[in-house]
Amino acid sequence: MTQRLAVKLPGLNLKNPIMNSSGAVYFGLEDMYGIEKTGALVTKTITMAQRAGNPQPWVINITSGVMNSVGLANPGVEQVMADLLPKITAKYAGEIPVMASIAGESVQEYRDLAQLLSATGHITAIEVNLSCPNVDRGGMAFGVDAQAAAEVVTAIKSVTDLPVYAKLSPNVTDIKPIAKAVEDAGADGIVLINTVVGMRFDLNTRAPQLARGTGGMSGAAIHPIAVRFVYEVAKTVAIPVIGVGGIRTVDDALEMLMAGASAVQVGSGLAEKPDMMLDIIAALPEALDRYGFDDVQAVTNTFKNSQN
Ligand SMILES: Cc1cc2nc3c(=O)[nH]c(=O)nc-3n(C[C@H](O)[C@H](O)[C@H](O)COP(=O)(O)O)c2cc1C
Repeated sequence: MTQRLAVKLPGLNLKNPIMNSSGAVYFGLEDMYGIEKTGALVTKTITMAQRAGNPQPWVINITSGVMNSVGLANPGVEQVMADLLPKITAKYAGEIPVMASIAGESVQEYRDLAQLLSATGHITAIEVNLSCPNVDRGGMAFGVDAQAAAEVVTAIKSVTDLPVYAKLSPNVTDIKPIAKAVEDAGADGIVLINTVVGMRFDLNTRAPQLARGTGGMSGAAIHPIAVRFVYEVAKTVAIPVIGVGGIRTVDDALEMLMAGASAVQVGSGLAEKPDMMLDIIAALPEALDRYGFDDVQAVTNTFKNSQN
């Protein structure tokens, strides 16, 4: 049974294909998500300096999802290394892989973050956030430019032996050259999608509902967009793809795998139901039976093109 759900990715042995997305569980130290039963823990994105985040509100509801403008609020890498990573190791030691999400304001800052965090011995892999739309410098600016994205990955690979997963943005006209560029630069896998840039106005104040004007959409509303990106990228690169975006049910997860993902992440759904990942994991064996798959790894890339 256990083997049926297991997924092997570069440098990551997942006991099942379900993990949280960055930002959904902060540093995963609370019990309510059932992290120890999931495939991996992905940390909140870590930056060099502490970040207080953007002015409130950080999250507003939209139809079938949320829009956020958190702005990478986190305690900064020194505090993460001194306090949070040892706590993660103490809590989960050996039970699950830990992916540290990082974002820099320059190529050098990405590299330095990767070097510092790799040296701690507390993490299993690095998720490079090239796609946060809610900050003035760094983040998405790197992920929408193939050359800049590749430079970041090359710099990180030069200072770490840990597997490197590049998290890409959907806010681009063509994702394929960017996916290919990070693969050529040595990325071991690709994670997508980050949030979709959107905007809402308040009719009374006539001002945007979020302080920066725009925010990042997530949740069920973006699931079809995420499936499309995973499908396109999985056809373009040979490295594995981890699919993110609007996953709330076991069928959503299997659809993402079918479209080309090797594993999936759950984000906004956890605010709605903190044990959503556990529900999906529990439902996987029966769902594999229902759709005629021996195991999870057999689902990846099994889509059929329409005959119409
Ligand atoms: C409140 C909030 C905070 C987020 N913080 C981060 C973050 O720190 N780093 C990151 O890479 N993505 C972050 N994201 C994006 C999610 O990881 C994910 O890519 C996106 O929300 C799509 O997945 P979902 O529809 O399951 O939420 C955040 C999303 C939300 C809603």
